[in-house]
Amino acid sequence: MSKNGDNLMEKIVSLCKRRGFVYPGSEIYGGLANTYDYGPLGVELKNNIKQAWWKYFIQDREDMVGLDGGIILSPKIWEASGHVENFQDSLVECKKCHHRFRPDKLVKSGRCPDCGGELTEPKMFSGLFKTTIGPVEEEGTVAYLRPETAQAIFANYKNILNSTGRKIPFGIGQIGKAFRNEITTGNFIFRTLEFEQMEIEYFISPDADWKKIFNDWLTYIYGFADIIGLNRKKMFNNEISDAERAFYSKRTIDIEYKFPFGEETEELWAIAYRTDYDLSRHQEHSGESMEYFDEVAKKKYIPHVIEPTFGVDRTLLALIADGYTEEKSAKGESRIVLKLKPQMAPYKIAVAPLLSNKEKLVVQAKLIYEMLKKKYNCVWDDRGNIGKRYWSQDEIGTPYFITVDFETLDDKAVTIRDRDTTKQDRVKIGDLASYFSDKLGSPC
Ligand code: GAP
Repeated sequence: MSKNGDNLMEKIVSLCKRRGFVYPGSEIYGGLANTYDYGPLGVELKNNIKQAWWKYFIQDREDMVGLDGGIILSPKIWEASGHVENFQDSLVECKKCHHRFRPDKLVKSGRCPDCGGELTEPKMFSGLFKTTIGPVEEEGTVAYLRPETAQAIFANYKNILNSTGRKIPFGIGQIGKAFRNEITTGNFIFRTLEFEQMEIEYFISPDADWKKIFNDWLTYIYGFADIIGLNRKKMFNNEISDAERAFYSKRTIDIEYKFPFGEETEELWAIAYRTDYDLSRHQEHSGESMEYFDEVAKKKYIPHVIEPTFGVDRTLLALIADGYTEEKSAKGESRIVLKLKPQMAPYKIAVAPLLSNKEKLVVQAKLIYEMLKKKYNCVWDDRGNIGKRYWSQDEIGTPYFITVDFETLDDKAVTIRDRDTTKQDRVKIGDLASYFSDKLGSPC
């Protein structure tokens, strides 16, 4: 049995396109570099990640609430946050092919690595995507597509305090798109221009034991890895040094993962103690007080913040990389199995008649499909022979496959094949509901 084989990344990219997880963006027009579209299976997997996150981080905790802030916010927010001034990279441009590069990533030759052309002196390029509000571009107001979801949380912190009456410590979480005019892109969906974040700002007193709260969050974050079935053995904490950390952060850990490209581990998620930097900046720039009156301590302060942050797309890539398995059966037949946790799998159950031209089998199988579909995301799969169907569902991670055969008409039972073991159970139709609630739990 081989877990990965060679070129795992290429195999993943190919599987994602072939089976409808992820397509290259705008492909019919020759593609748009570093953009991707999520297909029918990709959107299901993404939704499962986001739902699991929302339940675990927001709904399961008494001290958390949610928000869905705008993508276009006042440009003043990005001035206050420091993005307009600081969210930029130093770049050189090739005078011949106009490709741009980070000077620190270039080999010493000083020539363009793509065409050998002469390079310009380094210039600063903003990572913000700009647009204009209003009908006339020159007269319109400049606006930015948000480069992180976090700032909508800070901008609404007072609203949420007022409308919910929450007491510190408490946190606000948000899931949504973010946009960055990334210079070094690539590695499939690892670094793209448009991506999704799941972020939390956890507000604490400046006198709180932030080291403990930080560590408690770090432990809780690893609980999420277990829930979605991410392999902890491939995850590493990278403690960011004083020199590399943002000046306002007192501690940052990048939670890295061994992705199937490059030699190094790369950032998957992160956690940072951002002090009172963001709220203080918003107070300064907006003139609105961001102070909180602590009734227990009987004093006013600007809360400090611990920020756990997660990328949806990188989580999806890590799950597919973890789950991708090539196996050989005892008979020497090879198969690809996507060993996703059943709760994450796009389809939970495939249903089919043994033969698609036998009316009685089709009718019985349809009844079962309709019944289970109300509770679980099921797929009807009667293409080709049964072996091909199993192979096809294994590859997209469907954990169970129900087949209605001729015996079903007599014994009112069906065959259920398990994706990972390939073992088959014979289960009465009347027992299917309890069989799957044991195996899959209640649906999300
Ligand atoms: N609010 C803090 C913040 O935005 P970040 O480390 O810049 O921190 C958070 O981004 C997460 O967003 C990363 O850990 C990563 O998972 C994801 N992410 C960042 N840039 C990305 C990109 N260009 N493409 C895909 N995911 C990205």
